[in-house]
Amino acid sequence: MIGIFRSKSEVDRHLSKRLFVAGRLSEEIKTFHRIADKIDRLPGSELLEEGTFNAESLEIRDPVRISEVAKLLYQWGYVCFPSLVPYPLLNELRREFVAVLENGFRYGQAVDEFDASTTVRLLMAELDRSDLKATWDFFNSRIMNDFSRVYFRGEPFLFNYEIFVQETGPTESPPSGDLHFDKRHTLKFWIYLDDTPAEAGAMRIVPGSIREARGARMNHMARKAPLSRFDNIISVQNPEIPVAGPAGTVFIHDTDAVHGAGTVENGYRRRIMRGHCRTKRTQSWIEKNA
Ligand SMILES: [Fe+2]
Repeated sequence: MIGIFRSKSEVDRHLSKRLFVAGRLSEEIKTFHRIADKIDRLPGSELLEEGTFNAESLEIRDPVRISEVAKLLYQWGYVCFPSLVPYPLLNELRREFVAVLENGFRYGQAVDEFDASTTVRLLMAELDRSDLKATWDFFNSRIMNDFSRVYFRGEPFLFNYEIFVQETGPTESPPSGDLHFDKRHTLKFWIYLDDTPAEAGAMRIVPGSIREARGARMNHMARKAPLSRFDNIISVQNPEIPVAGPAGTVFIHDTDAVHGAGTVENGYRRRIMRGHCRTKRTQSWIEKNA
């Protein structure tokens, strides 16, 4: 990976082609900081408009198509864009994040305090853009919508219908900490508001587990059993890795890829926002089988 950056001019040449970063991540947070140093110098950019690191070799490529990123997601279950969001927007999102957690009720939603976590679920349909402009704009981005349409292969879907806002303090047992796949299949767009190494509870994921878990979920759905009888904890062979990244990291996650929240160590906190998308077919199955 370091070979990519043999010289500053080489880095600059790549950056000038509007790189973005995707695929399987190194566990070394220092590596991400080095990447971030470079990428932070980019002018404001939109999700998926930059170059990419290939999933296996972490090689920089020229701008890629949405369909290529979708292929990575089908294969690995997640695609990550370290340090994607530029600081001015990131700071606005942070400001709105604090407002939401302090005054969730103002936005019509309950503030849920559980163990070390505080969570608010915003419903996009009830959100007033003038209240939370950065959040509204970010999660209504055209590029996310276009990506979702490609990923769901033209099936009708609910686009970022829910925005999940959560802060987790130090804990050995964070909510959703066990490795699992979601009973309610969802495509999620995550953003880390702060540097999020493994110690800060970066999401853990088992790369490539998506096919196995999807099979288990589809079998269950075919049986039309209620969600409560749905065992979504499965053992998989591959090791889990933390999806770590600097502040402003965005990643896309198909919840069929086995995952779990990471332990937050003392002195750290995890502040995240994420948009949830789901096909209408899945939503209607959930409503019938809840
Ligand atoms: Fe989950």
